[in-house]
Amino acid sequence: MPINTTGPAALASRVMNAEAAAALITDGMTIGMSGFTGSGYPKAVPTALAQRMKTAHERGDRFRCRIWTGASTGPELDGVLAQADGVEFRLPYSSDPVARDKINRGEMEYFDMHLSQVAPMAWQGFLGQLDVAVIEISGIRADGTLIPSSSVGNNKTWLDRAHGVILEVNRWQNPALEGIHDIYYGTALPPNRVPIPLVRPDDRIGETGFRCDPDKIMAIVETDMPDRNLPFSPPDDCALAIAGYIVDFLRHEVSRGRLPSSLLPIQSGVGNIANAVLSGLLGSPFEDMTAYTEVIQDGMLDLLRAGKLRMASATAFSLSPEAAAALNRDMGDFRDKLILRPQEISNHPELIRRLGCIAMNGLIEADIYGNVNSTHIMGSRVQNGIGGSGDFARNGFISIFMTPSTAKEGRISAIVPHVPHVDHINQDVQVIVTEQGLADLRGLSPKQRAKVIIENNAHPDFRAALRDYYDRALAHSYGLQTPTLLHEALTWHQRFVDTGSMHA
Ligand code: COA
Repeated sequence: MPINTTGPAALASRVMNAEAAAALITDGMTIGMSGFTGSGYPKAVPTALAQRMKTAHERGDRFRCRIWTGASTGPELDGVLAQADGVEFRLPYSSDPVARDKINRGEMEYFDMHLSQVAPMAWQGFLGQLDVAVIEISGIRADGTLIPSSSVGNNKTWLDRAHGVILEVNRWQNPALEGIHDIYYGTALPPNRVPIPLVRPDDRIGETGFRCDPDKIMAIVETDMPDRNLPFSPPDDCALAIAGYIVDFLRHEVSRGRLPSSLLPIQSGVGNIANAVLSGLLGSPFEDMTAYTEVIQDGMLDLLRAGKLRMASATAFSLSPEAAAALNRDMGDFRDKLILRPQEISNHPELIRRLGCIAMNGLIEADIYGNVNSTHIMGSRVQNGIGGSGDFARNGFISIFMTPSTAKEGRISAIVPHVPHVDHINQDVQVIVTEQGLADLRGLSPKQRAKVIIENNAHPDFRAALRDYYDRALAHSYGLQTPTLLHEALTWHQRFVDTGSMHA
């Protein structure tokens, strides 16, 4: 049996190498894999599967699968399968550069969806049948329950729904992870849904392992491979300025009595700016904070270490290699402060609304009325996907979006007249922050929003062009609730395509 595994003796006969396990997967299958950011994804079986796909393609045979995960994964899953041209369809979030190019070349179908909705849609049968689950775990207990690894994602659902299960037992994962997971089995489909009994971010409402029908287990593969998350860049002046505005805003809200001094549970999105904001909270006056979020990043561990954050609940770690190594070393100190849950619970609209999360997410561009595009470049090229940003933005207590005011070395304004792709409608966007300033949009009409966003968020190089557009829209728009010059708004980006710059 694999090391770390004390499971039922009958499973011993199913221990095999990755190549033999991958041989159980055939062309056209739908595979539910573990993995959320660079954590807890299977590494050996997808690599062996990609090799089989390549060999099949060299023979002139078709071998492509439909891949479902928790969210993005690492190079040994998304990377190798995309390189082998083995993915026909992908959901729900992917940040792999090769997969991204294939999607944008029209060679891979991609279904972008709210992360909270993946599991419910799978139970409802909306996504079709699931043939195989390939799940990384850190061990099998004597009672047959599975000890999750560094992410939970949709694993509970994949294990329930799949006809067959392949387990990767990764010895690299820290045995001290055991016990930090909280796997809730009380969700049901309408009309049998009941309230989820979680009223504080630190509540534990489930079990510490996954249930799995042993008869479904087709293969167990032992691995010893590290998770591969990307390093964060040290916060630059832009990220520090954004973090500073957000901390000032939160301090102001506390002073007005709209937030308690420990804030409300914070949710922090993906990327360097989100991580910088967490670092900004280190120097803030807030104490005894909590996090109810999707991923635990480096900045959150720093807040825990400093005693500013009491605990953090998420579905995965998203740590730089250094922070992952430090967490592995110090897991004993953190165990009672961390909870990893299934993503339908970490991102559940009911819970986010009840807890009153402070949502902080990145964006690609926002328009002068506060609509946000988080996913598409130039309206048509997908970057990563909406992830959990929609779950938190719509249901949070306050929804904050943050971005540098320009992209591509200052040639593109992140503030535009009209976003060419909408992920978050203006009703779900209460605050926008750039290094230029903070726009508090609560209670403002579209025309009031436009003024605040142009003056507080736009880069000075683009303010005149945006003011000019807005003034002409006021004079010539068909209606004056949301003044818009349709043709000009939708062709704003064409200026970049034609000249390489959106400067007026
Ligand atoms: N126009 C054109 N390109 C733009 C752009 C704009 N307005 N804004 C960003 N880009 C480009 C960048 O230049 C960069 O391109 P490159 O890869 O060629 O260098 C790319 O988009 C990513 O930008 P970057 O600044 O590195 O992004 P980031 O790491 O701060 O992430 C999002 C920003 C929006 C992509 C990221 O937050 C995301 O995926 N959000 C959606 C999911 C989410 O919010 N999840 C959290 C929920 S818990």
